[in-house]
Amino acid sequence: LPGLDASKLTITRADPTARAVPDEATACSGLETICTDHMITATWKASEGWSAPELKPYGPLTLMPTASVLHYATECFEGLKAYRGYDGRLRLFRPDRNAARMLMSTLRISLPGFDPRELERLILALMAVDGPKWLPRSRPGSYLYLRPAVIGTQPQLGVQAPKEALLFITASFMPRMDAPPGGMRLHTNPEDMIRAWVGGFGYAKVGANYGPSLLATNEARERGFGQILWLYGPEGYCTEAGASNFFVVWRTKEGALQLVTAPLDDKLILDGVTRRSVVELARDRLKDELEVVERKYTIDEVLEAHREGRLIEAFAAGTAFFICPVSQIRHRDHDIHIPMVKGESGQYTAKLKGWMSDIMYGNEQHPWGVVVDE
Ligand code: COI
Repeated sequence: LPGLDASKLTITRADPTARAVPDEATACSGLETICTDHMITATWKASEGWSAPELKPYGPLTLMPTASVLHYATECFEGLKAYRGYDGRLRLFRPDRNAARMLMSTLRISLPGFDPRELERLILALMAVDGPKWLPRSRPGSYLYLRPAVIGTQPQLGVQAPKEALLFITASFMPRMDAPPGGMRLHTNPEDMIRAWVGGFGYAKVGANYGPSLLATNEARERGFGQILWLYGPEGYCTEAGASNFFVVWRTKEGALQLVTAPLDDKLILDGVTRRSVVELARDRLKDELEVVERKYTIDEVLEAHREGRLIEAFAAGTAFFICPVSQIRHRDHDIHIPMVKGESGQYTAKLKGWMSDIMYGNEQHPWGVVVDE
């Protein structure tokens, strides 16, 4: 049966004059996400394999009310950005990582597999068509957020792996969230709510990880906090901050400077592309200054480090929030404040963020920055 094949892409163009590109502030201020002119879709049937993908005008999907995704959450997605560089070029950041992770999530949720290189080609094809208009060379430093997703579309209420699926890719505006005034304020999760568990699917980018987290997030927001710091187990292991990975910089009792984040081995943690890149860059470029440690660590260790003056920085890392300094962590009746210097929680957060943006926006030529147009 045919696999997903980007070389079979058919193109139906939208009227290029029908919609003007809003400025970023207008596009990000509304209640609705504004998408670009086009989207890509491809359908799959167990009996027929993947259809030829289509690039076509952005618009609604048609689904039966009994579609598997609407009842059993047979859905997974990806998030990556396209960047208009200061050198004039349009880039994606490590799209191969997103494509590989999407395949992993797809298989975890019993949706059909594909060659991740074909998904990467489709993402590039969408940006080749919509990039020049929506990320014009006159707007260096701007970006679009790309959202590939796969859903189970079979109209069948029996609880079973769907025999029909739809892959789609959209591109939209997303507000900048990496520099909230005063830094990101985290509250630990309520004791009766966890994000993920050993043996669960916290490592997969399935929608089912996100909807159920909103209740805790909304409660925290009502109390003036931005995101939940998700702890796990009676030990209170630090896992993720909101929908981002979480990092701290501290000095050990022995005096060693460390950049610490939770490990991927228990399948609790999303293998974030930003997380991975921070770990790799820090191991390479900060090796003379600090040690990068992926290990389980508890909120008590963070509180103790803070009490003893050893906690230096904290940040959330993800595609949406990029590298977002954390200025406060509230856990029960403990409150940690991390001073913000020039909008950052410290020099390492600033360095890592600077290096990553230089690669994304072409101030540094690097293999992670995949050029869409020349
Ligand atoms: C991220 O980009 O960091 C995410 O987790 C995607 C989020 C918008 C669901």
